[in-house]
Amino acid sequence: MVSSLIAMAAWGLGSVLWVEVVRDFYHLLGHYWTPVYRLHVWHHRVFRPDLTAVNDTIYRQAHWYNDVPEAIVMLLMGLLLWGVAHAIAPEQQWAALSGCLYTLTFLFSAIARGSGLKWAEELTDVTHRSGPFLTPPSRWFVNRTYHWRHHFDNQKAYYCGTLTLVDKLMGTALSLKGKTIAVTGASGTLGQALLATLQERGAKVIALTSREQSVTVSVKGESVPVKTISWQVGKESDLAAILEKVDILILNHGINVHGERTGDAIALSYEVNTFSSWRLMELFFSTVRTNQEMATKEVWVNTSEAEANPAFSPLYELTKRALGDLVTLRRLDAPCVVRKLILGPFKSNLNPIGVMSGEWVAKQIVNLAVRDVRNIIVTINPLTFVTFPLKEFFVGLYFKLFSRRADVGVVKSGAVSSNL
Ligand SMILES: NC(=O)c1ccc[n+]([C@@H]2O[C@H](COP(=O)([O-])OP(=O)(O)OC[C@H]3O[C@@H](n4cnc5c(N)ncnc54)[C@H](OP(=O)(O)O)[C@@H]3O)[C@@H](O)[C@H]2O)c1
Repeated sequence: MVSSLIAMAAWGLGSVLWVEVVRDFYHLLGHYWTPVYRLHVWHHRVFRPDLTAVNDTIYRQAHWYNDVPEAIVMLLMGLLLWGVAHAIAPEQQWAALSGCLYTLTFLFSAIARGSGLKWAEELTDVTHRSGPFLTPPSRWFVNRTYHWRHHFDNQKAYYCGTLTLVDKLMGTALSLKGKTIAVTGASGTLGQALLATLQERGAKVIALTSREQSVTVSVKGESVPVKTISWQVGKESDLAAILEKVDILILNHGINVHGERTGDAIALSYEVNTFSSWRLMELFFSTVRTNQEMATKEVWVNTSEAEANPAFSPLYELTKRALGDLVTLRRLDAPCVVRKLILGPFKSNLNPIGVMSGEWVAKQIVNLAVRDVRNIIVTINPLTFVTFPLKEFFVGLYFKLFSRRADVGVVKSGAVSSNL
């Protein structure tokens, strides 16, 4: 009895997931196969960047040409799955029809919108509602902020319609093309490797360094200079103007004083590893004001697996854990996406006995970021894959229960303000 109920639930939920996957692949086809593109392009003609429709006629036509055919394809593929269930699991075949019922709601709402019924627009076109965005792109379900990027950031990414699963699998959940990405600790091993990898992926990179000389990256064996800006710990506000133009800020600078425990070592470690990163993160948050900025801006913070495991360097652990906890606290209601980089040992000045290479680590970070992984773990230590998520979950829950939400207030003309 119980196993039969579980099988029914699996067929039911599976059929809904199936039609959602069909939707996303049909959409993908619309960007790569001309016959479907001719229909899909109507969907891209409809909206202005503030998500208001260009005009009513195009809005209605777009539903007949794009949304209705899409729902029909989902329905046909849902019926195909029902046929499979009929053949291999006849007792559960009715549950397998859930995907078709679910699709019918989309088909009828698309027909209603195509017919110009205003209530249908307001009730059902949820990812195209105009007005200020209230939250950054969400992780598992497509919200307006997420979908906006498909229209106005990169049409060859962010294909998903309801669940973000297909984008995660394909690496299209974050587009780096044309993004301005600034990296601190740029002259270090990981800094240089990140700059090179991101540049290869089509980003415009900026090296933020505490040194005076310009930073170079290795591209096909050649040393290529990149745009370099000098900054100093304690003078983070000097970067305010440049951060306005940055889409993704990667906070990567850090030191390891190893066995030291003097007052000076404590002060320096906290200033460099914790407080300068926190100050830059806050400064960057203050640059997130408009819908576009909420949709496209991100901060990535390199906290290290020392957040959850011993690093045999007490001050390094203390300062990286403090930074990690501050990020966990602030990202509960941050105005943009915040990712953590949880890295294991790689060879660099900071860790000469690290086992991974900076280049390899940088590539893994970027591969996981484009899959919208918010806690990017790259390590050889299997324990971290258990200890970090557990620590993050419970610390995040504790912070949520015992701290108050910052108001991300809404101001006029699609802009957001926060009390940062
Ligand atoms: N190597 C590892 O095993 C490992 C493991 C986990 C996490 N991490 C983290 O990864 C990040 C990069 O480290 P890495 O291994 O690539 O080490 P690295 O080669 O020593 O790079 C660290 C960079 O941080 C910047 N920095 C150092 N002191 C600074 C100061 N006082 N003020 C401002 N910037 C300063 C420097 O870059 P500029 O001169 O360009 O400013 C330096 O090159 C660090 O946050 C580190 O904690 C490393």
